Amino acid sequence: MVPNNAGAGMPGSLDRAELSSPWGRLWGIGVGPGDGEWLTLKGLKVLQTVEVVACPQNRQGEAGMAYGIVRPYLRSEQVVVPLHLPFVRDPAQLHQAQTAAGQTLVTYLEQGQDVAFITEGDASFYSTFSYVAQAVHRLAPSVDITPVPGVCSPLAAVAALNMPLALAAEKIAVLPALYDVAELTQALAWAEVVVVMKVASVFAQVWQQLAAAELLEQSSLVEWVGSAQEKLYPSLVPLENHTPPYFSILIVRRHDYRF
Ligand SMILES: C[S@@+](CC[C@H](N)C(=O)[O-])C[C@H]1O[C@@H](n2cnc3c(N)ncnc32)[C@H](O)[C@@H]1O
Repeated sequence: MVPNNAGAGMPGSLDRAELSSPWGRLWGIGVGPGDGEWLTLKGLKVLQTVEVVACPQNRQGEAGMAYGIVRPYLRSEQVVVPLHLPFVRDPAQLHQAQTAAGQTLVTYLEQGQDVAFITEGDASFYSTFSYVAQAVHRLAPSVDITPVPGVCSPLAAVAALNMPLALAAEKIAVLPALYDVAELTQALAWAEVVVVMKVASVFAQVWQQLAAAELLEQSSLVEWVGSAQEKLYPSLVPLENHTPPYFSILIVRRHDYRF
């Protein structure tokens, strides 16, 4: 059983009395990449305490994946605020959307309401939370901003594959996206383990490159880890004509180690 005052007096304590500011606090909660039971106890506690839960919208404009993961834990009286944070690369468009999202959150924070921005995976690992937090800080510098870490997708993927991410002196290269597939060759020359995120749009070229490097058997693909649609491909050999979804991650492990 978790005592009610768990974390009191610690950095990131939930105790409002410790905050002298009239502003609400902004939390960034990493809810993990799929399985709701991967949410941390701290994340759960914060989620059940705050008045407002903000989340990125999906491509259809609805509350997205992070909301789907934590929905069973929310109370009906909590305000849910889906934010438009588009999947685009144009810096001006991104900045505008992030500032608008920040402004929306400030309207709750200035009334003294605590807001939890929920984000898929971890809150500090390629997460929109960092941009939204920056926007809120620009608009309202006295708001206390506290990230709560969560399980990130590479760690969930290797757990599903029953293998370690890294051992001993192995180096890890994480490619957040492959805008230039030559980066994969550079990463493979340097690291024993290479993680390729957002691999869907370049999967065909990546497959050809790994085939040329004779690394298909040491490469794995994990789709929708932790969710009902989860699919594991421990080898890329049979996947020449495969089309993975956006939520897929590729891991190359030069030295095989499975249990
Ligand atoms: C913008 S990043 C978000 C990373 C996230 N903050 C994390 O901690 O994992 C999105 C990419 O993460 C990976 N990813 C996130 N969730 C996933 C899942 N459930 N299954 C497989 N890959 C996932 C995919 O490569 C996806 O394209």
